[in-house]
Amino acid sequence: MALLKALYFLLLTASNTLALPSIAKPHRLSAVVREGSKLLVDGKQWKAVGPNVYWLGLDENVTPPTGEPYDPATKASYPTKERVTEIMAMVNALGGTMIRAHTLGVSTGNPLSIWPAKGVVNEEAFKSIDWAVYQAGLYGVHLLVPLVDNYDYYHGGKYNFLRWAGFDFTQSRDSNNPGIQQFYTNATIVATFKDYIKTLLTHRNQYNNLTYAEDPTIFAYESGNELLGPVWGDMNCPADWVRDIAKYVKSLAPNKLFFDGTYGINKTHLDIEEVDVFSDHFYPIDTKKLNAGIEAVESAGKVYYAGEYDWVGTSGGDSLESFYQILESSPTVGGDSFWSLFGRNGPDCNTFVNHSDGFTLQYGNPNNTAYTNSRIQLIRKHFIAMSQGKTIDPGEPLPPVPCPAPPPQRPRI
Ligand SMILES: *[C@@H]1O[C@H](CO)[C@@H](O)[C@H](O)[C@H]1NC(C)=O
Ligand SMILES: *[C@@H]1O[C@H](CO)[C@@H](O)[C@H](O)[C@H]1NC(C)=O
Ligand SMILES: *[C@@H]1O[C@H](CO)[C@@H](O)[C@H](O)[C@H]1NC(C)=O
Ligand SMILES: *[C@@H]1O[C@H](CO)[C@@H](O)[C@H](O)[C@H]1NC(C)=O
Ligand SMILES: *[C@@H]1O[C@H](CO)[C@@H](O)[C@H](O)[C@H]1NC(C)=O
Repeated sequence: MALLKALYFLLLTASNTLALPSIAKPHRLSAVVREGSKLLVDGKQWKAVGPNVYWLGLDENVTPPTGEPYDPATKASYPTKERVTEIMAMVNALGGTMIRAHTLGVSTGNPLSIWPAKGVVNEEAFKSIDWAVYQAGLYGVHLLVPLVDNYDYYHGGKYNFLRWAGFDFTQSRDSNNPGIQQFYTNATIVATFKDYIKTLLTHRNQYNNLTYAEDPTIFAYESGNELLGPVWGDMNCPADWVRDIAKYVKSLAPNKLFFDGTYGINKTHLDIEEVDVFSDHFYPIDTKKLNAGIEAVESAGKVYYAGEYDWVGTSGGDSLESFYQILESSPTVGGDSFWSLFGRNGPDCNTFVNHSDGFTLQYGNPNNTAYTNSRIQLIRKHFIAMSQGKTIDPGEPLPPVPCPAPPPQRPRI
């Protein structure tokens, strides 16, 4: 262990001084593959369990020091390296295997985006994404990355593509306008979206010299986040579009898995050959919906995934314990990710970053209540049950994550 730590620090030092460290020995995680309803790594069953960390590429919760890139209109800024690295150590401490991360893929329409405008590439935006992907690889954490968002949010989404094509739509005014389906059906818009996907997947990471398409750290792309049509809950994301985008992603990145990002299990999508995983979100937790979704996906011989859920439990619904029991006992379930994880405001080790949606999990905040800590312990127990098949005492203390972040628990160097 001491030797591994020494090696790790050597590498960190090198990575801070060289533009392209350790290119001779790129850090490659083993690829995740699907066999029927199972996910496998190195021939062994693997479960995708971890947090949602939506801000790894671009954040909205911290005002950066003067002179750093900042978009006051959306409060957007790039997260510091310290914050991103610490999250990886937190995932290790939680027994997680992966992160679902919107802003490593959704990056349009903001001055700090990969595509601030149609077809315009902002290389600066790749710096934080490259760092997150590289750090995830070092810490043995795989990444699930959505490609577009259903909403008009600071990091971009489907409304950017609609406006770039001349449709004057915004989410607040037009979310029920049938015209928004042009995002899926208009050949010009679909072609532009594919151009964006190409910009992203062919980008070469400055830290490990792998394109995102090549790097197995990103184990899967998801068509999008909570995609639907003009009626809330309609699951109206056309199957033809899902198939087309899945085929395109796999043509660029044949070794990646593809998630259908439709909000809910749309049964008319289950026969899309190129889709590996179907998923749903839970606000509040609903075990009846979970069981019905699993049953549908099981019959199709694909993998089921619970992509987001309320870990706090304040919005009612079924218990987190009953939800976890189903996820742990079903062979069709490939994993789950709670919404959502934050850490300290690194390099400041004394402040934690907060987010206003009421679902912020601040791992290791000394101000966390006993209730909050018992919920985090339950999450960790669940992740360890899923990823290692081990049952731990629900009262087992949470491993501390020192600041600055410690080296990987399972170094991959
Ligand atoms: C698709 O969008 C373009 C604008 O980019 C527009 O000219 C065209 O009419 C649209 N196609 C349809 C079928 O509405
Ligand atoms: C990065 O990879 C590309 C493509 O394999 C190769 O041409 C290039 O020389 C590599 N760069 C470095 C610094 O190794
Ligand atoms: C499912 O997707 C199809 C298009 O592929 C769509 O027509 C339908 O409205 C969606 N929703 C439901 C509930 O099937
Ligand atoms: C804990 O709460 C106190 C009082 O509100 C606050 O001053 C302190 O900054 C908090 N500590 C952390 C780590 O959030
Ligand atoms: C964090 O944000 C939530 C939701 O806005 C708020 O209720 C809570 O008081 C905030 N916590 C701190 C320490 O500021």
